[in-house]
Amino acid sequence: MQYKNFAFIYDKLMDDVDYNMWVNYIEDIIKKENVIVKNILELACGTGNLTIPLAQKEYDIVGIDISEEMLDIARKKSLEQGIDIVFLNQDMRELDFEVYNLDCVLCACDGFNYILEEDDLKNVFKSIYSLLKNNGIFIFDISSYFKISNILSGNTFGENREDIAYIWQNYFDEEENIVEMDLAFFIRNGEYFERFEEIHYQRAYKNEEILDFLKNAGFEDVKVYKDFTFYEADEESQRVFFVCKK
Ligand SMILES: C[S@@+](CC[C@H](N)C(=O)[O-])C[C@H]1O[C@@H](n2cnc3c(N)ncnc32)[C@H](O)[C@@H]1O
Repeated sequence: MQYKNFAFIYDKLMDDVDYNMWVNYIEDIIKKENVIVKNILELACGTGNLTIPLAQKEYDIVGIDISEEMLDIARKKSLEQGIDIVFLNQDMRELDFEVYNLDCVLCACDGFNYILEEDDLKNVFKSIYSLLKNNGIFIFDISSYFKISNILSGNTFGENREDIAYIWQNYFDEEENIVEMDLAFFIRNGEYFERFEEIHYQRAYKNEEILDFLKNAGFEDVKVYKDFTFYEADEESQRVFFVCKK
């Protein structure tokens, strides 16, 4: 099970991620591509950390995620901020979205690494292509092959905070290109810590594979940037951004 109990502490553990900077980067991409974006479909939106600030910037945005728990948090946060956003509980491998001519489709922070089968990813790209308007823009990032196979692989990470601690062990299968992430969380409850576990699987895709799938879906104009810059991604980039124009 992924993003079940973890959903309730996701935002706390992601508090080192600068989502404002992320939103600015997305807007810089949109400007650089010279497209008019009024509406956005965000896949794997999680707890709405990008969805909500983008809605606050007047984009008409819909968020989709497979985890009802993550969406519950997203809905709660958007209500608290008085913003009305449609969040849909869907598996993006079986997208059921019939609004076409979209200006922008977004998938941020590893969403596509959770798609383990190549054919599924190819089909997702095809659906996105058909949903976009001509000149529409598709922006996403992945944890790179380098990050998964060199930095995560075989390593254990952890954090020990006052109220929450976790241990995160990674096992990479080089034949399948899939990393198993074993997560154990400890949440303070009075004097004790409650423990729960989740196992996540992510697939490591090489940039060339992704480019191939995108081309196969119809995207000809694709840029590949490294880690929140406009420099071309290289062998050691950890987060690779793809910007695709229909
Ligand atoms: C690392 S989180 C990123 C969440 C959010 N985009 C952010 O930046 O905080 C990955 C998200 O992908 C979602 N996800 C994984 N597989 C999915 C699928 N097949 N369809 C839709 N969402 C999926 C998870 O539920 C989770 O919310």
